[in-house]
Amino acid sequence: MKIAVITGASAGLGKEFLKQILEKYPTLDEVWIVARRVERLNELRSLDEKRVRPVPLDLLDYSSYDKLDKMFKEEKAEIRLFVNNAGFGSLGNVAEEDYTKLGNIVDLNCRALTSLSAIALRYMKKGSGMINVCSIASFCPNPRMTVYSSSKAYVNSFSQSLRFETKKDGINVLAVCPGPMETEFLSVAGITKQNSKTFATLPYCDPVKVVKNSLKACEKGRAVYTPRAFFKFYRFVSKIVPKSIMMHAAKT
Ligand SMILES: NC(=O)c1ccc[n+]([C@@H]2O[C@H](COP(=O)([O-])OP(=O)(O)OC[C@H]3O[C@@H](n4cnc5c(N)ncnc54)[C@H](OP(=O)(O)O)[C@@H]3O)[C@@H](O)[C@H]2O)c1
Repeated sequence: MKIAVITGASAGLGKEFLKQILEKYPTLDEVWIVARRVERLNELRSLDEKRVRPVPLDLLDYSSYDKLDKMFKEEKAEIRLFVNNAGFGSLGNVAEEDYTKLGNIVDLNCRALTSLSAIALRYMKKGSGMINVCSIASFCPNPRMTVYSSSKAYVNSFSQSLRFETKKDGINVLAVCPGPMETEFLSVAGITKQNSKTFATLPYCDPVKVVKNSLKACEKGRAVYTPRAFFKFYRFVSKIVPKSIMMHAAKT
């Protein structure tokens, strides 16, 4: 069975990935959508009752990885596209944050993504793709979002190194690095335009365009996709200006 898998598909960017993947790839037998909120996943079945398969799992629960692996095996899945999208952040200084929440950011953004990538690759073939949703936060550390930006730096590095490993097998791994988007991410992270000057002034990315161009970039075999000229420039500057200076501007 030829499938695509999207983690964090119950909202925001993941939901948009679902809509566009269903439309762009009609030959896929099913699109598996992973998230915790089962009622949201079930509602999304209305997009295509036959092809959308809700897979309600909490990716902070390590046993979820085995469950997915078992499902892939039982269904003889051939994964054509795997979108590692589930993730969250939190605004605040490390010393003032709940340490369990900070650990969970690392567990979801890094650990789940790593384990799921390793599992997914066993079911991928030449021409398959993996899209790892990263962030502009990966280019330079962001004080007040220290753990989140560090986790995304891991995702960026992991994705590029993994792409190097899988290129010989004809599997492309793409890191997508968007700037802020108007999704539930902001409320989950406790970000408002009042408590973060950076989020109040930065240009926002359109999730519809981000997904459209990510799918295109993955097909073309690209390594990294950064939406908007402003953030492409930021990525370039982050490579040449010392981080100690950059962090004054990158502070959230
Ligand atoms: N929005 C932005 O400003 C922005 C900017 C750059 C990068 N990003 C990245 O884009 C990705 C998507 O975020 P978004 O903006 O679409 O945010 P969102 O609307 O909050 O969506 C996050 C998704 O992750 C799922 N999720 C959260 N915890 C989970 C868990 N423990 N197990 C399984 N699924 C879980 C959520 O579903 P449930 O709650 O139902 O589990 C939801 O579907 C994230 O990796 C984020 O870091 C976002």
